[in-house]
Amino acid sequence: MKFHIKTYGCQMNERDSEAASAALLDAGFELASGESDADILLFNTCSVRDQAERKAIGKIGLVKREKRVRPDIVVGVLGCMAQSLGETLVEKVPHVDFVLGTDRLGDLVDVVNAELERRGKIVRTAPATDDSPPSHLDGHLPLERRSSRVSAFVALMRGCDCFCSYCIVPYVRGRERSRPMDEILDEAERLVEEGVKEIVFLGQNVAAYGRKEGLAPNGRSALARLFERASGIGGLRRIRFTSPYPSDFDDDLIEAVASLPKVCDSVHLPLQSGSDAILKAMNRRYTVSEYMSVVEKLKGFAPGMTFSTDVIVGFPGERDEDFEGTRRLMEEVGFENAFIFKYSPRRGTRAAGLADSVPRGVKEERNAVLLDDLKRRAETANRALVGRRVEVLVEGVSKRDDSRWYGRTTTNKMVVFAPNPSILVGDMVAPVVVRSTAATLFGEFPAGDR
Ligand code: 5AD
Ligand code: SF4
Repeated sequence: MKFHIKTYGCQMNERDSEAASAALLDAGFELASGESDADILLFNTCSVRDQAERKAIGKIGLVKREKRVRPDIVVGVLGCMAQSLGETLVEKVPHVDFVLGTDRLGDLVDVVNAELERRGKIVRTAPATDDSPPSHLDGHLPLERRSSRVSAFVALMRGCDCFCSYCIVPYVRGRERSRPMDEILDEAERLVEEGVKEIVFLGQNVAAYGRKEGLAPNGRSALARLFERASGIGGLRRIRFTSPYPSDFDDDLIEAVASLPKVCDSVHLPLQSGSDAILKAMNRRYTVSEYMSVVEKLKGFAPGMTFSTDVIVGFPGERDEDFEGTRRLMEEVGFENAFIFKYSPRRGTRAAGLADSVPRGVKEERNAVLLDDLKRRAETANRALVGRRVEVLVEGVSKRDDSRWYGRTTTNKMVVFAPNPSILVGDMVAPVVVRSTAATLFGEFPAGDR
């Protein structure tokens, strides 16, 4: 029996899909080469914006035809939209056989087996009954099947307690629950033994890792402790993390990020808005100046640090001057990379009760202005690197051009270069930048170099 998982949304969903695949492989199922030869078709969905849901629903709708031709295939919906829509999904989309919510992913193998034996709809969306994070999710695919042989995601925690007024995540992923530090480190060690060089620690609010579980004695940062301990794993070259909530990014964590050499010089720090009034309406627990203080402290310790962010344009009540504040702040931080989202009301959230007052055209315009700013800044910053050597962790064949290889700098810039027999995936190399665009640096190895 072969399965295929189509994944939407964030890195946490990618990580869940990988763990789900590992569980199915362990149970004797096989990976299909695509949708058309899969007996079990799974959709791991996202609810964070309306567009993400529509995309998944559209795609799941198309499976109806396939199911007519091959009535024996099993169709399952996982993830945030499964959690949020539950029964409604099987009612609205009758060719969906089962729906598994975010806390029920551990039931996947049982549910798939049950579906294969005796047909019938299964909907499981009840939250976990205890406060512990589901631990069945630490499985990884064999190295040769992973999307990257160099970098791996490790989930630190599940859920979110922040309740930003626009966000559906706390409703679909439940309360914040952190995994024990030893379990996380064991997983990281196993990955490194298999050849992984970079670990990306994931969570909705990683800066609050272990806060509830008391993993941070004397009010210190548990994430900082984790970084210190993970830094001790020989063979691990780089540590990344996403996403920290700005006001939980305390001095202890700032110092750890700045001083531990394996922790990369690039921080994703979700801003959402550069206006105090909008931040307040978003129920974000920081002001613009508090946000800047984290950025400045980090820059003070590590001057080359780069920052990326998430920004929402067109939140209810966002005036021109609020938007200008966002634009100014983005310039001040110097973001070269950011995810810009147009506000989309989500059911059950506090902001959904407010009028979606910013017209679509204005949201689009603000979105375009910020993207334009970003491109210009990235071009300038990357041009400044031409002629310089950069240290690159080699990831493999470029996805755009298979005659070239690529890797990343510690500042998370993509570097493309011509392969050479002495360079292996997972190596650290230091090409000279000879050309650049907003998105890419082009590296070369001067004669006499490796
Ligand atoms: N509308 C638009 N963007 C949203 N995000 C979360 N909820 C919404 C929404 N309702 C964005 C935030 C968050 C990112 C993952 O998605 O910027 O950081
Ligand atoms: Fe959503 Fe805010 Fe939690 Fe991020 S921190 S997942 S935006 S509620």
